[in-house]
Amino acid sequence: METLVLKPDENSIALAGNLLRNGEVVAIPTETVYGLAANAFDGKAVAKIFQAKGRPMDNPLIVHISDISQVYDLVCEFPEKAQKLARQFWAGAITMIMPCSDKIPEEVTAGLDTVAIRFPSHEIARKIIDSAGVPLAAPSANLSGSPSPTSAVHVYNDLHGKIPLIIDGGESTVGVESTVLSVVGDVPTLLRPGGITVEQIESVIGKIRIDKGVLNQIDNNAVVSSPGMKYKHYSPKANIIIVKCDGDEYTDYINTLPEKKNIGALCYDEDRDKLTVPCVSLGEKDDFQTQAHHLFDALRQLDLMNLHTVYARCPKKEGVGLAVYNRLIRSAGFEVIDLEKS
Ligand code: TXA
Ligand code: MG
Repeated sequence: METLVLKPDENSIALAGNLLRNGEVVAIPTETVYGLAANAFDGKAVAKIFQAKGRPMDNPLIVHISDISQVYDLVCEFPEKAQKLARQFWAGAITMIMPCSDKIPEEVTAGLDTVAIRFPSHEIARKIIDSAGVPLAAPSANLSGSPSPTSAVHVYNDLHGKIPLIIDGGESTVGVESTVLSVVGDVPTLLRPGGITVEQIESVIGKIRIDKGVLNQIDNNAVVSSPGMKYKHYSPKANIIIVKCDGDEYTDYINTLPEKKNIGALCYDEDRDKLTVPCVSLGEKDDFQTQAHHLFDALRQLDLMNLHTVYARCPKKEGVGLAVYNRLIRSAGFEVIDLEKS
C-alpha cells in the first residue's frame, strides 16, 4: 500500500474524513503525539489499527472527540469530577476513563467496561474528527514498543506501506502522551502522567491516587489498572540506563568509564560541553516542558547513532517532569544507577 503524506488543507482533511468514514485508518497530528485513527464505532476499522501497529489486542484505545456533547454517546455515566476536569482542561492533554456505553465495540475497550476519552486541543485533529463525523479511536501512531511519534516523519518511518494516509500537522508541541486519569470509583486514579500535571488536577478536584504502575515496574502476570502499563515501551535499540544523581557527578561518571566505545549520553544542555562521549540533550535542567517536547525525538536520534549503551539523566518527578520520568524509566527497562547511594 502506498502511504500518502499530505499537509492539512480543505482537500486533505476531506480525504481523511472520507477514508475514516469508509473503515480506513489515518495518522493524525495531535498536540501530544501523532495518533493512528479509525471510526470508534466500527470494530473492523479499529482492528486495522492493531494490525498496522502490531499492538496486543488486550490493550484498549483512547476515543477522541471534538465536542463535549459527544461524551454522552460513549459513556453510561459522566461522573461529576470528570465534568469539572473537562470544564477546566478540555480541549487538552488529559484522557479520562469512564464507565462505557454499549455502543462501543470491544476492539476499542479490549472488553473492559470502561472507555478512555480525550478531547484534543490540536486544531487539525479536531477538524479531522469533524470531517469524519464520528469519534475516533486512536493510539499513538508508532510501531508497538517503539517511541511515540511527535512528527509525520516519525510516523512514516514506522508505518509507511501499512496505512493509506498521514496528515502532516508539524511537530507535536507537548511531546509526551496525554495524562490518563481513571474517574471510576471514589478516588480518581492517575494511570499515566502526561501534559496535564497531578498538581493541576488536584487544584480542581482535590487529592488523587497515583497508581503504583506509574513509578514502578509491573510484573507481567499482575492484574493492572491500565493494560498499557505491562508492555515494553519506548525502547530504542541502545540499552538505556538511568543515572540518578545531582550536578557534576553525572558527567564525571560517564567521562571516567573504563570503556567508552559506543557509549552515549541523554543529558541536559548544562552537561553537553562537559561530556566526552556523543550526546543528545533534552533541554535545560529544570525546563520540564522542553524535556517532554524533545524526549521521543531524542530517543529516535539515539537510534541513528549506533550506540550500545546510553546513560540518561534521571528526570525530576515534578510537574511534566513526572511524565518524562515515567517514559524514560520504561525505555530503560527500569535499569537505574544510583550515584546518590554509592
Ligand atoms: O496523547 C495521547 O493520549 C495519544 C494521542 C494520540 O491522543 N494517544 C495515546 O494512546 O497515547 P495509547 O494507546 O498509546 O495509550 C493509551 C493508554 C494505554 O496505556 C492504554 O492501556 C490506556 O491508555 N487505556 C485505554 N483505555 C483504557 C481503559 N478503559 N482503562 C484503562 N486504561 C486504558
Ligand atoms: Mg502508545
